[in-house]
Amino acid sequence: MEYNIALLKGDGIGPEIVDSAVKVLEKIGEKFGHKFNFTPYLIGGCAIDEVGEPLPKETVDGCLASDSVLLGAVGGYKWDNLSGDKRPEKALLGIRSALGLFTNLRPAKLYPALKEASPLRQDIVSKGFDLLIVRELTGGIYFGERGYRDGKYGNEAYDTEAYSEMEIKRIAKVAFETAMKRNKNLISIDKANVLETSRLWRKIMHETAKDYPEVTLTDMLVDNGAMQLVKNPQQFDVVVTSNMFGDILSDEASQITGSIGMLPSASLGETKRGMYEPIHGSAPDIAGQNKANPIATILSAGMMLRYSFDLQTEADAIEKAVDSVLEKGYRTADLVGDSGITPLSCTEMTDKILEEI
Ligand code: IPM
Ligand code: MG
Repeated sequence: MEYNIALLKGDGIGPEIVDSAVKVLEKIGEKFGHKFNFTPYLIGGCAIDEVGEPLPKETVDGCLASDSVLLGAVGGYKWDNLSGDKRPEKALLGIRSALGLFTNLRPAKLYPALKEASPLRQDIVSKGFDLLIVRELTGGIYFGERGYRDGKYGNEAYDTEAYSEMEIKRIAKVAFETAMKRNKNLISIDKANVLETSRLWRKIMHETAKDYPEVTLTDMLVDNGAMQLVKNPQQFDVVVTSNMFGDILSDEASQITGSIGMLPSASLGETKRGMYEPIHGSAPDIAGQNKANPIATILSAGMMLRYSFDLQTEADAIEKAVDSVLEKGYRTADLVGDSGITPLSCTEMTDKILEEI
């Protein structure tokens, strides 16, 4: 089969890690007889520098015309002082919305080979954990009305959280379907003791649960959820939550796996076209130094094969190759800690993974 992939390399380490994932996809293509065509488009800070805006129309059109999108990362010190709608991050929200990507899947899995890298006590992580956060991605406070107004104490800024029944229902469906494919254990995280949007969220989760009698649904308040994640991460299988809570909890979940450099993500909508990206940022401090860990982006390419192209064997091949280099003890700089292991560069790690495929 032939697939057209839009490449949004972005800023910082984005170009290096996307190049690594492209090499891996090309290798998969050779081995399994597929052809991947790659077309690069500008996004984020580099787009601001070249054409004056973080999300050019050509980029949106190019992504809409592609079968799927692979993104590196956006942002950096250089653009940190721009106003809200000129910032590189705005492009990320814009492209998610333009492509209708309302679901964000963020797996956080503890690799046995990396157990020591977890900041949690070894008795907590010794049994490992493997959870998946289903984050609503195009609604809530990140997309609500915002601005400045004359408030009780003078000038004030405000942001608003709004969720329609439709938006909650469609993410609930994805979460239950996902739970059905895993251990049928779904935890819905909200703040229903305070927020009206959360009370609606909870009501719709329970209505949807009636269509999935095999799935156990548990409600959890977000503050407790943040605590439970570090106390007993094993209790989580699939987690469903709103845009902002998912943003925060997915960073926490990634950190307890030991390295944010390992975790991929998939953003999906109603069609097969998705956007796949590492959950870490653009790491401007190590950009251009060939030091970045390419694994999260390589695994994101694997998720693309699995979710957008239904290529399960090919996706398995990528995941197995990553497992195997880690088992053999190869590490990038973010993973060595005080182990005394000499770290591999981004391209060396990529080559090791290519050898395994
Ligand atoms: C993420 C990021 C983005 C988000 C920012 C950069 C807009 O933190 O992908 O988690 O909050 O969605
Ligand atoms: Mg985030």
